[in-house]
Amino acid sequence: MNTELIYLHDAYLREVTARVVNILEENNQFSAILDKTIFYPQGGGQPSDQGEIIGLSGTLEVNHVSYNNGEPLHKGHLTGTLKIGDEVQLRCNWDLRYTHMQWHTAGHIVDQAVKNVLPDADSIDGNHGIGKKMYIEFATDLSKVDLSKIQEQTDRIVKMSLSISTEMITFDELIKRKIKLPFDLPQNKSLRTVQIGQYPVMPDGGTHLKLTDESQPITITQIIQKDGGWRVVYEVNKMDVKKLLTQVVEELSPISFDSSKQLPNSIELIKSQLKTETGPDLRIKYLGKKGLFNQVSQVLKVLDPRERKEAGQKLNEFKTYLEQEILNKEQSTNAKSTWIDLTAPGIEPKVGHIHPVSQAMEEITHIFEQIGFTRVRYPEVDWDHYVFEALNMPPDHPARDEWETFFMDAPIDQKMGKIVLTTHTSNGQVREMERLNSQPPIRMINMGRCYRRQQDATHTQMFHQFEGLVVDKGINIQHLKGTLDYFAEQFYGPGTKSRIRPFHFQFTEPSFEVDFSCHLCDGTGQVKVDAEVTKCKFCKSGWHEVGGAGMVHPNVLKAGGIDPNIYTGFAFGWGVERTYTLKKGLNIDDIRLLYSGDMRFLEQF
Ligand code: PHE
Repeated sequence: MNTELIYLHDAYLREVTARVVNILEENNQFSAILDKTIFYPQGGGQPSDQGEIIGLSGTLEVNHVSYNNGEPLHKGHLTGTLKIGDEVQLRCNWDLRYTHMQWHTAGHIVDQAVKNVLPDADSIDGNHGIGKKMYIEFATDLSKVDLSKIQEQTDRIVKMSLSISTEMITFDELIKRKIKLPFDLPQNKSLRTVQIGQYPVMPDGGTHLKLTDESQPITITQIIQKDGGWRVVYEVNKMDVKKLLTQVVEELSPISFDSSKQLPNSIELIKSQLKTETGPDLRIKYLGKKGLFNQVSQVLKVLDPRERKEAGQKLNEFKTYLEQEILNKEQSTNAKSTWIDLTAPGIEPKVGHIHPVSQAMEEITHIFEQIGFTRVRYPEVDWDHYVFEALNMPPDHPARDEWETFFMDAPIDQKMGKIVLTTHTSNGQVREMERLNSQPPIRMINMGRCYRRQQDATHTQMFHQFEGLVVDKGINIQHLKGTLDYFAEQFYGPGTKSRIRPFHFQFTEPSFEVDFSCHLCDGTGQVKVDAEVTKCKFCKSGWHEVGGAGMVHPNVLKAGGIDPNIYTGFAFGWGVERTYTLKKGLNIDDIRLLYSGDMRFLEQF
C-alpha cells in the first residue's frame, strides 16, 4: 500500500496523526514508513523536509525523507522505540518547509518569466535549493536575453497575485492534453500538475505557495551557460514585510484591492515571518500601535461594508493567533532565561535607610549615653498633671498659653485632670522621678513625639523633642553649661559653642534659652566673600536658638517626691527637627518636607 501523500493536496499542513507501517534499521539509522505523510521527500529540485515523528514511547528526529517508490522513507535518529502499528504525531519543521515552498514557487515563476520574454524557451530542469542552488535550466540559447527583462516579468507575475493551483491527473490524460513533459515520468500511476494562473500546466509534485504575491522578492542574479544548457539563476530574498505591507496599504484603492486574496496573503506572510523571528521586541513589532497587525488592519478602510465583515473576522482570528504565538515565544525565552549565568554582573539591591529624623534621634541618644544618660520614653498622650500641673503650672495659669495644646475629648480625672497630646517632653520629668522612686541620681534623656496647634515652614503639628534631666546633690548651672557645650561639639562638630540667655519657664528657675554658634559664620554673624563682608543669611546674628533649659524648680522636685533642700537639678528640652536642620550642609528651609514622604527629598540623607 502506498503512503498517502498529503503534501500533494495541502502544502500548508504542518501537523497530522499517522500510523507506522514499517520501521527499518541500518547502522543505528532508522527509517519509518507511514500510512500517510506531510513530509516532502526530496525530489523535483525541492529539498527534503525535516521534523519529528512522535510516538507514545519514542521520537524519530527526521533529518531526511526520500521518495522510495511512493512509500517515503523518513530517516533519522530515534530516541525510545517506535513499532509497527504505533499511532504517531508528525510535525514538520515549518520554517524550513515554507522556505522550500518559496524557493520552489519562485522557480516556476522564473520559468514562466523567461517564457514570457522568449516564448520558445524550452525548460528542461530546475533546482530549487538542493545544495543551496537555485536555477531553471533551458535547452534554448539565452545569450541574447536581457536579464532585466526576465526580472521585470518575474516581478509582474508576482504582483499579479495569480493563483497557483494543482490537479491530480493520469499519465494518459497528460498526453491527451498535450502537456509538455520536461523529463521522464512514471506512467503507471496518478500524477500531479501545477499551474500558475492560466499559464501552461506543468507536471510537478512539489509544495507551492497559494498565490504568486505570497512570494518573497525574487532576484534574477545570472544567466550562465553550463553543461550544454542555459541556466537562469535566481535568489529569493526574505522580505521586509513591514515595508512591503506599508506599500501595499498605501497603494490600496477600493477598485484594485481584492480582499479575498490580498488580505489572507498578507496574513500568511506575517505569520511565516513571525515563525522565524525571536527577540524582545516582537510584541511591539507585531501588536504595537504601529505594528504589523495594525498596518494590515488598515485595509478595512478601503473595503465596502459587505467585505468589511468578513475581513474583520479574518483579522480577529489573526490577532488571536499573533497574541498566542508571541506569548508562546515570550514564555519560551523566559523559560530559557531561568538558567543562571554565574558570570553575569549582579543587580545591586536597593537598600533603604533610616529616616533623617530617626537618624538624628539615634545620634542624640548616643551622644548622651556616652556621658551616662539613660534613654527613656513616656506617653505621648498624657495627663494634664504631668504635662502642666506637676511642672508648676496650675490650671488657669497664663504660662500654659505658650503651649498650644490639643485636648482629648475624654473624661476628666479628679487628680490627673484632662488628657492631652503632650506638648513637650517635659512630662517625662516627674514621671522619671516617680519611676526611680524619687531616688536620685537621675540622668534621663527622654525623647518622643509632641503635638501643638501650629503649622508653618518651621513648625509642624507633630514634631519630636528630646529632654534632658539631671538631679543629684550639688548640681548647678555649670553642669548644665558643660553638658550643652559637650553636646554642641559632639553634634555640630568641634568648635561649636553654646550660649544661655535668661528666659522664663514655670518649671525651671533660673530659666534660659539655649543658642548654638552658627557653623556658617563661626558665630560672628558675618561672612566674607571676596573681601566683601556681609551678614550671615543663615543665622543673621551668629547664633541659632534651639530650645529651653534651666535649673529644676523646687516645686517640680517636690511634685516628684524629691526634697529640694537636698537635691538640685537641671533640665533642657529642644526640638529634634530644629536641632537637626541646623546641621552643617543640610539646607532644609521647610521642615514640613521631612514628613512629606517624598523619596526624592528623603533619599538625600
Ligand atoms: N519644655 C520646654 C519647651 O517645650 C523646654 C524646656 C525643657 C525648658 C526643659 C526648660 C527645661 O519649650
